Formats: sequence, C-alpha cells, structure tokens
Amino acid sequence: MVYLHRDLQGHEFNFHEISMKPRRIPDFPRNQVDLKTRAARNLELYLPLASAPMDTVTEYEMAVLLELNGGLGVLHYNSTVDYQIDQLKRVKNYKSAFVRNPVCLRPDSTVQDVYDVHNRYGFYSVPITEDGTPKTRLLGFVSYHDIRYQDNRKTKLRSVMTPRGRLIVAAKKDTVGKQGIKSANMLMKRHNLNVLTVVDNEDNPYALVTDRDLRLHEKYPHASVDDNKQLLGFIAVKGDWHDKKRRSEEQDRIYRAAEAGADGIVIDQGVVYGSQPEIVKWVKKHFPEMHTGVGNVCCGEVVEELMGRAGKFIDFIKVGVGPGMACTTTQELAIGRAQPVAVYDCARTMKRLAKKYGDASIWADGGVKKSGDATLDLALGANMVMVGGILAGYEEAPGRKIDKGGGVWKKEFRGMGSMSAMKAGGDARYTLGKEAIRVVEGREMEVPYKGDGEPILTEFAEGIKQAMNKLGFRTIDELQRYCMIIPNSNRQRE
Ligand code: XMP
Repeated sequence: MVYLHRDLQGHEFNFHEISMKPRRIPDFPRNQVDLKTRAARNLELYLPLASAPMDTVTEYEMAVLLELNGGLGVLHYNSTVDYQIDQLKRVKNYKSAFVRNPVCLRPDSTVQDVYDVHNRYGFYSVPITEDGTPKTRLLGFVSYHDIRYQDNRKTKLRSVMTPRGRLIVAAKKDTVGKQGIKSANMLMKRHNLNVLTVVDNEDNPYALVTDRDLRLHEKYPHASVDDNKQLLGFIAVKGDWHDKKRRSEEQDRIYRAAEAGADGIVIDQGVVYGSQPEIVKWVKKHFPEMHTGVGNVCCGEVVEELMGRAGKFIDFIKVGVGPGMACTTTQELAIGRAQPVAVYDCARTMKRLAKKYGDASIWADGGVKKSGDATLDLALGANMVMVGGILAGYEEAPGRKIDKGGGVWKKEFRGMGSMSAMKAGGDARYTLGKEAIRVVEGREMEVPYKGDGEPILTEFAEGIKQAMNKLGFRTIDELQRYCMIIPNSNRQRE
C-alpha cells in the first residue's frame, strides 16, 4: 500500500490537502508509463477511467469515446428500459471483428428496403439471401454503390445486386479465429473491398468483416473490447428492489442487457442499501461472466460487511459518498466523506480481505477535477476512477446544448439526485421504496461547452502519466506500492 505521512494517519483529508512526494529520480520517458489496470476481478483495461451513469454524462456516444480510448462508459438508467438497452446495443454494435448475424434482404426486396436498413442501423451493405435471413444461401450483395443512382425505390434488388458468382467471399474455416481476422484483412486489402462476406459450409453468410472496423481496430489498439473486438457494454441498474414489480422490472432489464451482449452491471445507489448483496448473487447465478459491482460506500466497515455478505460474487466496489460536483448530500444531509481518505480506507480494507475473498477492484467515484486528483485516487488504491462533471461539457455528453448568445454555449449538467433527474427516474438512487416526498441531493447547473472530448480525454490520461513519470513509477502497481502521500498546503482549493 501507499505510504501515508504520519501527519495524515488517522485523519480525514481531501484532495487539496495532500500531494504525492517525488522521491525517485525518473530515468524513463513519459511514453513508458503504462496505465493498465484491473477494472474488475477478471477485466484488464488500458485506461483507469470510467464515465458516470448520469443522464447528462453517459449515453452511447460518451461510452464509445471512453472505450475506444481504453476506459469504460456506464450507461445510466434514467430512461425507459427500452431506451437504455437501445443505447447498449449501439455501443456493442459500434465495431466488431466479425459482424455476426448480418442483416440480410431477399432478391425481391427493393431499393427502399436498403434505405430502411440504413435508417434503422446506419449502414447500406447487405447480403442478399434466399429468404432474407443469414440462415439461407448467399445469392448476392448490395452496397450504397449499387443503389445510389436508382431513382425508382421500388426496383428489385435482384437487378442491382452484385451476384454471388462475382463476389469475393471468405470461408468461415479460414477466417474465424485469432489468425483468421488477419487473413480477412489481407483479402480485403488485396481486392480493395469495403465489406467482406464470410460464408459457412452451406454458403450461408456467417458474418461480415468491414474496412471501417479494421481501420478502427488499427486506430484504437487499446480500446476496451470483448473477444469479437466489440466495445464493452456496461449498464447501471437500480439497487432498490423493494417490491415484486420493481424486482421483475430490474430482472427484465438485466436479462435484456445480457441478451444484447452486456459485459458489466453497476448496481448504482447513493449509498449501498441492504438488497445489493442479494442482487449481486442473483446476477452472478444467472450470468456468471458478467462483471458486477456494487456501490456506493465510503468506509472500510461497509466494505467488510459487503464482502462478508457476498464477497466472492462482487467484482468491484464503487467508493464515493458526497464528493460529486453536482452532489449536495454533504450540504443538505451532512453525510459523506472526503473522497481521498474514503478511497484509502476502502482499498486498505479490501487488501486485508483479499486472502479470504480474492481481490475485488475499487472504483473511486466523484470529486475529480484535475488529472492530479485521479492520480491521487489511483495512488491511494483505486483501480478505476469514475468521472461525471468534467465530461459533461463535451459534445459526446447527452446534456442539452444551450445557446447563451454572443457565441457562448453551455451544456446542461445535473445530479441524479436533483429534482428534475429524480422525477425522470433517479429516485431509486437515493431512497428505498416509493417515498411521497422527495429529498433533493443534487443540483442542476450549466457547464461551459467544450467541443469534442477526445483530445481532452487524451490530455487527461497524459496528465496522469506525466505525474507518474515525475514520481518515477512506470505502472499503477508501482504507484500504489511506493508512492508517499504528504500533507500539502500549496494545493489550493478551487
Ligand atoms: P463528479 O464529481 O465526477 O462525480 O461529477 C460523479 C459522481 O457523482 C455522484 N452523483 C451524485 N451524488 N447527488 C449525489 O449525492 C447527486 O445528485 C449526484 N449525481 C451524481 C455519482 O456517484 C457520480 O458517479
């Protein structure tokens, strides 16, 4: 564990009261710093950053941004289940090595049908099969190129498609598997293809490989992906299963998420309530592979109790009660804890319990304003750092963009415990059951609009690397083992 200066031991401390003491002479460049992290028991990622499941922070665009760059996006639940699952599908379908079960049409489908496919799914390239499903023989292929000058939308596809005899296809046996994607890649380059159809022994279209995906894999080699190179799908679920109706709604949400390919579930409440250990067990019983986390907590005592109740099922614990930028829990209810000491306490407890239950990961959730705060979270034992407010101003955040006049733009950002967010379904994060009167624990605000998030996300990650470089640590493991945290009156509160 990190070394805590003796003046900090046994004390509460916040970000602006501490810093990391450089005690080594660094002799390697910043690009040798490796931010790989164990985001959950069985999940390693390249970037220890997650975006918060808030309705003005994470929908599919933000999740894609984080995950292309090696982090995670957790989709909020402040919508209908249909909407959340649709967002999840968009994340999962954003890219893949092999597009399985490709959308197909029949020879007597029309040009209009191809435009409908584009409206619904965002692409024009469609294999043509006997019955319009991938379960029958491939007869041809249609792409945008084939339909762009067809003014008559009723034209049958049989007259515009490239017929099977002229198609370059790959055989499933030569293509699928670790080396297979490389041979698919070569075929595409050799024949200058945008889309390659992979056929099985019966000549049915088994999958597609697209040039767009290949370029994305090359551009983002550290993206957070599953075995098929699809981005990871993490969703937040309600932790309040107070009655039969809510229980079945949430179970339905999880079943549907799993069906859509979800990889992780975050049971998300302001403070962890008693039903969470049972929910984790339920999830793991039905979906053992699902990375599942609970939260939020802010002290070792609760970590110990949670692990005692559901230890081996919990993959990560989210830490943070009160530090969020849009959070008013501390002001309103006088509840909460300074985030860095909370992270330290929880991580230390988890280390102690690891022999008994294995190592669940710690996610530090909230209060991060600068990359240095994130580095402190990591040094104090966090495996992931979750952020909300600092992302809310970017184009990829779902909050409304507001024209303030004179060329000034802002974006809406609200706490999930704000009145408007609670009315939209956020109550479940803050109360158990249906309480008649809502107690507000979050604020609604506007943050400056900052344009595209990717350059800033990269800069933020480089900021963490810069700090680790100056401290002389190449990995997060080294940072957590050897860093010394000292009191510091130089860091100003902002
Ligand atoms: P930041 O500081 O990154 O924190 O914006 C994001 C985290 O803040 C929490 N959150 C809230 N906490 N009332 C709270 O007490 C709220 O209305 C609220 N909204 C979000 C949440 O943990 C999120 O991940």
